[in-house]
Amino acid sequence: MTRHLLEIDDLAPADLIEILDRAEEPAPPPALAGEGMALLFEKPSARTRNSMEMAVVQLGGHPVTIRPDEVGLDQRESTEDVARTLGCYHAMIGARVFEHSKIERLAANAGVPVVNMLSDDGHPLQALADLLTIRQVFGELEGRTVAYIGDANNVARSLGLGCGLAGLEFRVASPAGYRFDAGDIDRLRAVGVEPQVSDHPMDAARGADVIYADVWTSMGQEDERPSRLDAFAGYTVDDEMMGATAPGGVFLHCLPAHPGEEVTRGVLDGSTSRIWQQAENRMHAARGALWWLLDQP
Ligand code: CP
Ligand code: NVA
Repeated sequence: MTRHLLEIDDLAPADLIEILDRAEEPAPPPALAGEGMALLFEKPSARTRNSMEMAVVQLGGHPVTIRPDEVGLDQRESTEDVARTLGCYHAMIGARVFEHSKIERLAANAGVPVVNMLSDDGHPLQALADLLTIRQVFGELEGRTVAYIGDANNVARSLGLGCGLAGLEFRVASPAGYRFDAGDIDRLRAVGVEPQVSDHPMDAARGADVIYADVWTSMGQEDERPSRLDAFAGYTVDDEMMGATAPGGVFLHCLPAHPGEEVTRGVLDGSTSRIWQQAENRMHAARGALWWLLDQP
């Protein structure tokens, strides 16, 4: 059966650790030699497009990036037929979509592994890079504590699931209306994480090893920006919040950031920030994940 990476809990805990180990392998084999990977984007991207293209190149393959207007998922052609078409030419397909169901439809019809490069529901490649960064910073994953401050969105969902799989404690502080729903909490529990949910960011931050922030307004939610700015008032990660972490606590952000909203410029550029190591790790984690997927029976 073709394996896909649609959400991080498609992986068993041992798979996840193997991907992180492969991400740190300095000389990966040319697992994609002579083959292509289609990278399909319905939304903009800087890190994901570039890290995925370079990961494919580093595995000896050829990336073909496709902008939204070029194939027109469900507009020029059905998502199913796009999947079948790209599966004729490529060894793998990556997709960044709005509705998560589109990536499931691609996976059901492509005949080759499909990788979620961000949907409205999840961002598993980001979570792999986040865990790789945490492991590099602390030398271990198990027992460390991540506090996510802000919108319980795609990035938060994948991060929480990844923390569960890798044995980290996961806390989340979000205002009413922007929290995980009961289905999310069940899914987090299924991977062994009992999320500590709070509406007090300082409570979540106290004693944590990692403070994590993402934008308050995700791609596709731009019309909601004024109400979101109101709802998230008080959730800005600042020096005071970073001062409440455990000794050696660090700040992570998937980027792009909106300085002055979810985090201050001072924290983004400050001594506890590991955001550029994290951004670089997008490429290493992607390479590890693609190589691992190609090796699955
Ligand atoms: N973190 C991330 O996915 O960034 P891009 O949207 O720039 O790809
Ligand atoms: N939550 C953000 C992440 C961007 C990488 C979004 O979906 O826009």
